[in-house]
Amino acid sequence: MIDRRTLLAGGAAAASLAGAPARAADPRFPAGFLWGAATAAHQVEGNNTQSDAWFLEHVQPTAYAEPSGDAANSFLLWQTDLDLVRDLGLNAYRFSLEWARIEPEPGLFSIAMLDHYRAVIAGARARGLTPVVTFNHFTTPRWFAARGGWNDAASPDLFARYCARAAKHLAAQIGYATTLNEPNLAGVLQELLPGNLLGGDRAMAEAAARALGVDLFQPGNALYVRDPARTQAHLLEAHRKGRAAIKAVRPDLPVGVSLAMIDDQAVGAHSLRDAKRERYYGPWLRAARDDDFIGVQNYERAVWNDTGRLPPPADAVTNTMGSEVWPPSLAGVVRYAHAATGRPVMVTEHGVGTDHDDIRANLIPAALREVKRAIDDGVPVLGYLHWSLIDNFEWGFGYGIRFGLCSLDRTTFARTPKPSAHVLGAIARANAV
Ligand code: BGC
Repeated sequence: MIDRRTLLAGGAAAASLAGAPARAADPRFPAGFLWGAATAAHQVEGNNTQSDAWFLEHVQPTAYAEPSGDAANSFLLWQTDLDLVRDLGLNAYRFSLEWARIEPEPGLFSIAMLDHYRAVIAGARARGLTPVVTFNHFTTPRWFAARGGWNDAASPDLFARYCARAAKHLAAQIGYATTLNEPNLAGVLQELLPGNLLGGDRAMAEAAARALGVDLFQPGNALYVRDPARTQAHLLEAHRKGRAAIKAVRPDLPVGVSLAMIDDQAVGAHSLRDAKRERYYGPWLRAARDDDFIGVQNYERAVWNDTGRLPPPADAVTNTMGSEVWPPSLAGVVRYAHAATGRPVMVTEHGVGTDHDDIRANLIPAALREVKRAIDDGVPVLGYLHWSLIDNFEWGFGYGIRFGLCSLDRTTFARTPKPSAHVLGAIARANAV
């Protein structure tokens, strides 16, 4: 159990909770601050049949609660989504390219699919939205996973080839690009998720390998990773080569990587906090020093003593998964990511999986007030992109965990803004919280 004194020992982020007086600063965020919502292709497009995840959703035994199916039908309804982002008062949209659509077979690039994404990027521009484009958000082509995915020695070069081709078609109008989404957690994710999902994930991947007659089927969004060190080395190389490939097409396009970051706090003597930070982010924070910006994605904090992670306070607000929702955690990682890299920070994801939208509506301004304090303290923050625009396919958990600013009718595909969407929209329009 964490009491108030323990929290105070936890450092700067906790200080605000203890009632530190707010500074009388200009409430406005920097001019040009990006206010947006984020999605990822597999989670919203639907019918992404060439991807590793689609294959796993239908293999027996699958660990997916349900298949992605039509998702939010955003592949067809992308204009509706862009209208929604604009109408909420936001000025940016983060989405991802689906590698499996662009390169459905090795070396076969689909001009039609590249044209599709070019239309989405142009559509964002036409609505005054800055497109923040993720080149790879977890899912890889099925053929890539069947080679072992990021375990394959050729994977960094295959990714760089895809990035080069996609950038050639698309880079001109992109605002910010990221290579990979949360690569830092590949091979260590199970340590951070509640329950034991590893066995089911491994059985599913092995069933996929058997079905395709290959040695290893390693999907981009894997819990079970045969050789985590090898996969990490390849992902780091893929990021470097992918960035170089994009930069070769458009040197002035800002390129970064989005890291999953928990706000790790230390309590007591010999806290494991620093060791955990090194394990989860160290190599990637060092790699990001060569990037133009660092993307951070935060959903929670972790309080570490000398033996492990402490449970949340008994009165904590919790999400659908039972994890604590603690608004200052976002500013905690923003500060840490900048201190560790010296790079400007973009919040590429932040949000909460909950059926209680008032939790989301409270979280957004509370978290942003802390981010504003970090900005006032000199941390360069480029933008805030909320996860997610619409309720969507939450990977293995299916559609049961809802992160959307807008709800989704899965039969009519109607999107309906929740009150929290208007909370974020009002902040965005005012450029102030
Ligand atoms: C991922 C998203 C996911 C979200 C909520 C992030 O880790 O990038 O794809 O839906 O968190 O779990």
